[in-house]
Amino acid sequence: MKLYREKNYEAMSRRAANLMAAEIIKKPNCVLGLATGSTPVGVYRELVKKNREGDISFKEVETVNLDEYRGLSADHEQSYRYFMQTNFFDWINIRPEKTHVPDGLASDAEAECASYDALIASLGGADLQLLGLGRNGHIGFNEPGPSFIKETHVVRLTQNTIDVNARFFASADEVPREAITMGIGSIMAARRLLVVASGEEKADAVYQAICGPITPECQASILQLHHDVVFVCDEAALTKVYEAGGSLC
Ligand code: F6R
Repeated sequence: MKLYREKNYEAMSRRAANLMAAEIIKKPNCVLGLATGSTPVGVYRELVKKNREGDISFKEVETVNLDEYRGLSADHEQSYRYFMQTNFFDWINIRPEKTHVPDGLASDAEAECASYDALIASLGGADLQLLGLGRNGHIGFNEPGPSFIKETHVVRLTQNTIDVNARFFASADEVPREAITMGIGSIMAARRLLVVASGEEKADAVYQAICGPITPECQASILQLHHDVVFVCDEAALTKVYEAGGSLC
């Protein structure tokens, strides 16, 4: 495990974008696993800049997103497809057909999950998977629970996640109750994992993910078993890790 401690959100974003850009330069046709949420917005902004300045090209890059709400269409302002278009895809030279997000409106959700796994397999898995961290330690929408689920699946969101994500909706009532998420198997199969976290509200999740026991009650704790995982965190997100000993556990 490698840990970058950055001064603040901007520095975290630049560091993570540099690591992703290095992957694209090394392998122009790489497969990137992508995440939504507040944390990676700055990373995408930096990557857009690099693309516009001609430092990197997304022409051959293929992307697979981690998750999507069930019941939201691609043009719903809170859907993750909409997030990806407006924060990233619309601003870079990626081919639209090379961007993949689970279909939140699929009538047969089980079939959608199976075909998403087949798609990831057909691409040979992600070369680099970008991950944010839920305050409860979730990755994608793999919520705390009794087990790690390997495959893409439909998940019922926890009340904690609904409450946290309500900030993006008019009220908590409007937050979808279900999502489709890539499973822990596909995430762990990525050749490199890049976890970004910012702010004190993530300090406990970061601590549990890096130093805690490996347990499905903190889904991110399984990342400790990956052979190439990089955490890029700002100082606030690392307060608990450093309180606990000042170095990596
Ligand atoms: C979204 C996703 C989620 C978020 C997590 C943190 O695609 O995978 O696991 O990364 O909920 O969200 P933010 O960054 O908004 O705190």
